[in-house]
Amino acid sequence: SDIAIGIHDLSFATTEFVLPHAALAAYNGTEIGKYHLGIGQRSMSVPAADEDIVTLGAAAAAPLIAAHGSDRIRTVVFATESSIDQAKSAGIYVHSLLGLASACRVVELKQACYGATAALQFAIGLVRRDPAQQVLVIASDVSKYDLDSPGEATQGAAAVAMLVGVDPALLRIEEPSGLFTADVMDFWRPNYREAALVDGQESIAAYLQAVEGSFKDYTEQGGRPLEEFAAFCYHQPFTKMAYKAHRHLLNYCGADTDADAVERAVKASTAYNSVVGNSYTASVYLGLAALLETTGEDLTGRPIAFLSYGSGSVAEFFCGTPAPGYRSRLRTAAHREAIDRRTELDYAAYRALHQRSFPTDGGDYPTPAQTTGPFRLAALNGHKRIYEAR
Ligand code: CAA
Repeated sequence: SDIAIGIHDLSFATTEFVLPHAALAAYNGTEIGKYHLGIGQRSMSVPAADEDIVTLGAAAAAPLIAAHGSDRIRTVVFATESSIDQAKSAGIYVHSLLGLASACRVVELKQACYGATAALQFAIGLVRRDPAQQVLVIASDVSKYDLDSPGEATQGAAAVAMLVGVDPALLRIEEPSGLFTADVMDFWRPNYREAALVDGQESIAAYLQAVEGSFKDYTEQGGRPLEEFAAFCYHQPFTKMAYKAHRHLLNYCGADTDADAVERAVKASTAYNSVVGNSYTASVYLGLAALLETTGEDLTGRPIAFLSYGSGSVAEFFCGTPAPGYRSRLRTAAHREAIDRRTELDYAAYRALHQRSFPTDGGDYPTPAQTTGPFRLAALNGHKRIYEAR
């Protein structure tokens, strides 16, 4: 069908605090080049004691509601892999904080970092069925690994909110998609753990296999040839991974893999992830925001490739094209502000926040007031999370 469906508007939020990799390196004795060049990370967003996936998700979505209203939103899909409840969708707290109408379905989706792409594709299906409706897709995650583990340097946190509908002002999403699923144990988080477990080298290999597998299917489904793409947005567990992935794809396609070609294709998409860190489900869409907002080029109508990867694993390769006039719809100033306003932590303060966890006895535990963001987690009381708008 030729009805254009895609992302009408996109907004992201990140945390109150930031830890520079220089502070982590000074603490653990790592040569800083490993972080800055080897993995391509300069700092990581760290949530305040009163921030979580709900407060971040609501903060990301609030500007979309302010700009477009909520009359047409009949579905909220909340994608996360750092879920706060095994039963209730985090999206319901956001629905409440934003004052959305009761005539709405709300659900949480999980498949590691891939969840937001599933949400986006499901949203497109819903909009195709009822073109009058818009779907609010929220991707929100806090990436947490054990202290002093190799994964620690790839932590981060952010939320992206996207309004999906017909005649999108930002990005049209095309068919087909290339799909790839493989049962691998590269990264996982058992229900009893707050920090993820990972087999680092295995995870990189699994990601590269998934790039290849999803692009192969994309080609078989009649997708565009590689050379048509103006830029590539990869899932970025750390920004160097986008370079590795693109080099792998060029190799797979028998294309020239010189460093300049790789850099031209992915660099603009890494500008935000390199200072925010891994935001799991949000990461590839933070990459989209960075690409559109920091490239000097006008990408109107030009094919952008997306590679969404979620460990375990599922990957999807698809194409989006920026809509005419998209540059006037970007939230560049607000996004820069969200990154620049973070307060720098020293290593000891970061470590203390990392080690915080709520008691599980059902008592009343107010959280320290730390965030200056629009929403906060005020307390855990009787096993219930209590949120408030500031
Ligand atoms: N100067 C410059 N570069 C240096 C350096 C120095 N002084 N020292 C080391 N490096 C380079 C290394 O050569 C290496 O680069 P290459 O991979 O290009 O060779 C890079 O820095 C990292 O070094 P190591 O591989 O030795 O680092 P490590 O063993 O500490 O682990 C990691 C790195 C595996 C990424 C680890 O941080 C980790 O486990 N992270 C979490 C898992 C992850 O992000 N996996 C990604 C794929 S899975 C996924 O995408 C889903 C998801 O979101 C988790």
